[in-house]
Order: sequence, then C-alpha cells, then structure tokens
Amino acid sequence: MNILRFSDLCAQGQARGQRVFIRADLNVPQDDAGRITEDTRIRASIPCIRMALDAGAAVMVTSHLGRPTEGEFKPEDSLAPVAQRLGELLGREVPLRANWVDGVQLAPGQVVLLENCRVNKGEKKNDPALAHKMAALCDIFVHDAFGTAHRAEASTYGIAQFAPRACAGPLLAAEIDAISQALAHPKRPLAAIVAGSKVSTKLTILKSLADKVDQLIVGGGIANTFMLAAGLPIGKSLAEASLVDEARAVIAAMKARGAEVPIPTDVVVAKTFAADAPATVKAATDVADDDLILDIGPQTAQKLADQLRAAGTIVWNGPVGVFEFEAFSHGTQAIAQAIAQSSAFSIAGGGDTLAAIAKYGIEKDVGYISTGGGAFLEVLEGKTLPAFEILEKRAKG
Ligand code: 3PG
Repeated sequence: MNILRFSDLCAQGQARGQRVFIRADLNVPQDDAGRITEDTRIRASIPCIRMALDAGAAVMVTSHLGRPTEGEFKPEDSLAPVAQRLGELLGREVPLRANWVDGVQLAPGQVVLLENCRVNKGEKKNDPALAHKMAALCDIFVHDAFGTAHRAEASTYGIAQFAPRACAGPLLAAEIDAISQALAHPKRPLAAIVAGSKVSTKLTILKSLADKVDQLIVGGGIANTFMLAAGLPIGKSLAEASLVDEARAVIAAMKARGAEVPIPTDVVVAKTFAADAPATVKAATDVADDDLILDIGPQTAQKLADQLRAAGTIVWNGPVGVFEFEAFSHGTQAIAQAIAQSSAFSIAGGGDTLAAIAKYGIEKDVGYISTGGGAFLEVLEGKTLPAFEILEKRAKG
C-alpha cells in the first residue's frame, strides 16, 4: 500500500518543530463511574505520541469517546479519564483542551489532548468547513485510529484531505500490514475462524474468505446455520433458516477449491440458555428437538485444534461457544490454546475474541491482536477502508 508513513517523516527530521495532529482511537470501555475498564487502545496509541514528541513536534491528540450528540457536551462524554491514563503511561501531564476547533496554542515538545471530537458539530457527516478548520491547526495530520478507519468523519477523512501533509501513524500502519500479511501473502494452510450469532452479519466476510482460506471454521449461531445446510438437526438452536442456501454456496465454493468448512461432528447442548443449565455432549446427528447447541463437542474441538496447530496462518474472529458460561466454554478454550501452541502467524480481532484471549491468557501467543472492531471486520470483508483510501490518494500528491 502506497501511503506516507509518519515514522519515515520523523526519521527524516521532517516533524521537527511542526504542529502534528494525531487522530487516535481512544474509545475505551468505562464503568458507571466513568473508570476505564480496559485500556488496550490507550496503550496502543502511545508509540505514535512518543514518536511525535521524540521528533520535536508540537503534539495534539484527539479521539471520539462513545457516540455523543453533536453540539451537546455532557460530562460523561469527556476524555478526562483518558487524559489521566495517557499521562500515567507517558510519565507526564497531558492537559485536556475543550473548544479547540478555532485554535490550539502549544509549543514543540508539548502534548495536549483535544476533547471528544464527536461533540463538534459536523464531525459525523464529515462537514468540509469543520474539516478545514481542523486541518488549519496542523502541519502534519497523522491517522493512527485503526478502530475508526472504517468511518469517513471530519477528524478521520476531511482533515486528511485538507491538511498540508497526511500520513499513517505506526498503529494504523501495523494493523494494515498485519492483516495484509495474513490475507494477501499467507503462509499456508490459511485457517479462518468466523463465529458469532448470525450468518447475516458476517455473510460478506464468509464469502470473501471462501475465496482465500484453506479451512473456514464456523462457530456459534453461524455454525448452526451451516449444520442445517449440511442436513443436521439443530433443535431450537439459534440459526437463520433463510440463509441456508447462502451457507450451502459457501460450502460449495470452498469444496470447488479443494478447501473445507469443517462441520461439527459433536456438540454440547442444554435445554435452556443459562450458566447453570446441565450440559450434555451429543453426536451432531443426535440433537433433539428441544436442544440448544451452546458449544462444539470435544471430538470437534480436538479436530479443529489439530488443524490450527498445523496451520501456517490463522485469522480469528469470534468464540465458537458461549464461553462466558463455564460448561460451554471448553470449545473456545481448546481453540484459544491451539492458536497459542501453533507456530502459525495468528491475527485476532473483535470484542468477544479479545475477551476470550484475555480469559485464557494467550495475549503473548497471538501474532497480532487488532484494536479494531467494525474496522477489523470490514478489512476481512475485503473492503478498502476510507482511512487508507484517502491516505493513498494524498500519497499520490
Ligand atoms: C469502535 O469502538 O469500534 C470504534 O471506536 C468505532 O466506534 P463507532 O462504531 O462508534 O464509530
């Protein structure tokens, strides 16, 4: 991908004394008291900020937090807890500036956090007037917000159009490099795990991956729809009967390439959806009318784990069972452990997947953990995200 990289500008001394505007994704989960419950995205934003400071720039950083109403700032929309955490991680105070669109005073070597950019009127709709004002604040715009790379908003797209220079920060660049390595030039076999409640939300991903991967492992409600497509009983499990033909088409496309969609041969079922519901392992052919499939069975887990251990590349999006409930967590645990033990280059993304990675403590064993939710899924769909489209355009001059 031909984009200007901030690391190159810094290495060439071109950021010295410049006003650098970094769009980060610091949209982190908070509890009811506003405390940050998970700070991965803040930690992931640090290398870019340090790079800018070390290069001698005057550094402005902004992000959205949640989905506030434009023009109506409320205390819960504030990036104040993020400023505090950034300060701890950088080892220096990070002042928070409100009402910053018309001007920001700061000197080289200083860093400020600009209050929630989604409170500005025109942000979501990428209003050109707002984008021009933001672009006027800086000499270099750095897009480092992979989690927001699928949005074309004033602080992610318009500013990139109008800023004197526009480039990719190290996080944005690393994300796209990792995903491209996994999908464009993978070491084979390439296995993808696509799991979740509905085929409909991931149909484009399934179709896109059906052209590329050697094993397309489906899980959760998606697997139930594929079991239906394979003529298996699924009782009252979550599935989308209307998408059975689409599932068959994916299976056929994979088969035509000599690739496969492994269908579970055994499953863990319960009569109700509850943490304490008694769990029973059954052959996939024996699921009763009143059964709910809540996990893959041990035989299936073993087979999939063997495939993952032998894979060259693994893309993981979605747990294969209701892993929040102990009795139905073993399939996801087996998958997580197999990924951890595999020598394959692995890449994982999506909220539930990150929760499973944390639960099984395999963070260090996954090749690359994406900070993107929706953005990660859109890359898997084969889409060119607006962030990369505009940065490529700007790199052409
Ligand atoms: C995310 O959490 O996936 C990103 O920060 C994007 O947030 P959004 O879906 O509100 O644009």
